[in-house]
Amino acid sequence: MVKLNTQTRYSPITAIVKNAGQLVTLNLPGHLGPRRGKEMSSLGIIKDGAVAIAGTRIFAVDQTAKLIKKLKIGKHTEIIDAEGRLVTPGLVDPHCHPVFGGNRANEFEMRLAGKDYLEIAKAGGGIKSTVRATRKASPQQLYERGRKVVDKMLESGVTTIEGKSGYGLNTQAEIKILKVLNQLGQDTKASIVTTFLGAHEIPEEFEHNPDDYVALICGEMIPTVASLGLAEFCDIFCEKGVFSPKQSRIVMQTAQAFGLKLKIHADQLHSTGGAELAAEFGAVSADHLDCVAQEGIHLMKKAGVIAVLLPGSVFVLDSKRRAPARQMIEYGLPVALGTDFNPGSSPILSLPLTMSLACILFKMTPAESLCAATINAAYAIDRGDKCGSLTPGKMADLVIWDADDYREIPYWIGQNLAKTVIKNGKRI
Ligand code: NIG
Ligand code: FE
Repeated sequence: MVKLNTQTRYSPITAIVKNAGQLVTLNLPGHLGPRRGKEMSSLGIIKDGAVAIAGTRIFAVDQTAKLIKKLKIGKHTEIIDAEGRLVTPGLVDPHCHPVFGGNRANEFEMRLAGKDYLEIAKAGGGIKSTVRATRKASPQQLYERGRKVVDKMLESGVTTIEGKSGYGLNTQAEIKILKVLNQLGQDTKASIVTTFLGAHEIPEEFEHNPDDYVALICGEMIPTVASLGLAEFCDIFCEKGVFSPKQSRIVMQTAQAFGLKLKIHADQLHSTGGAELAAEFGAVSADHLDCVAQEGIHLMKKAGVIAVLLPGSVFVLDSKRRAPARQMIEYGLPVALGTDFNPGSSPILSLPLTMSLACILFKMTPAESLCAATINAAYAIDRGDKCGSLTPGKMADLVIWDADDYREIPYWIGQNLAKTVIKNGKRI
């Protein structure tokens, strides 16, 4: 019989992050699903905590002393000392438009001079202007731009990103964007969830017959995207002058028939009925909601739709209408936060900055903003079982912050406090 040498015995623990002064786990014992109401303030904080990692997954979470005592540390276990700092789950950005050509600095200036976002769009600017630049760009050019965006997001502490198409608006260009997004998911450390947003705007060539564009989306784009497996979600910009609720409904029915999950840009600039549509179709999330009606909030809650709020676009467009975050939370609607990173309404790629804006503009508390940018954001992209909290079995995605307290993340506005980002168990 071979005797095992207990000193060099095998340990499944590949890394331990220890001595986290504040370990924010976002665990709520016995609770599955997105957090609502007061649950959004329950962060599951462990003082002097540690996380044991086995390969790409979280193995155990506890106080440092207890964890080290109870686990076998092998000679290959990497010890990462947080030296008393704040440690949280990797942040999750559930709403971004990261792949596009050109920029719209000219429109930024036009808006400062008093022009309105929708007015600029009607005159051929806005999304249409980015569509022209994106159609012209090669896949390589789009990839290089997108890669910089994803790398910057990772550096700021975001480890899972939802990315939408929507600047191609014909089958070929939409597929070009989705392929770039999928490639970024393979090549970068970030987990990327892809969304088809062919219904982002009526392209110039269909301006006089928008219903024909809806027919193209449903007859050609969705079937192609679904058969190539390029997207998990389908999104639509339901807005006055863009896609009506009637047109949105047709797109949503088709997407659902082809097995795509649903998201919707709802009630951003006008109360259009997007929230109600999200509820009717059982969408995973309804996003923006700055002009949402009471009935929409009520129906979303009933249908289990998550509200993804995007204070970046409210700030950039200097909108007076703001999503009623306080009311939503108090009513028990789960709220998530996203950057909405895009070249028009939100050239903001920092989720920590978005948390600051949610606190200041939407009166969310720092705890709620962190819950909204982690576990609730994970549920908003149907990844609640994989990320968003430090739970054994989930992906080992963590951030060590140059801070002692979670409130500092939204408090130090515009700073990047992420010191060490760990994705799938590896430091990046
Ligand atoms: O989420 N609202 C529609 N789509 C984007 C804006 C896109 C753009 O301006 O390029 C948004 O805000
Ligand atoms: Fe958006």
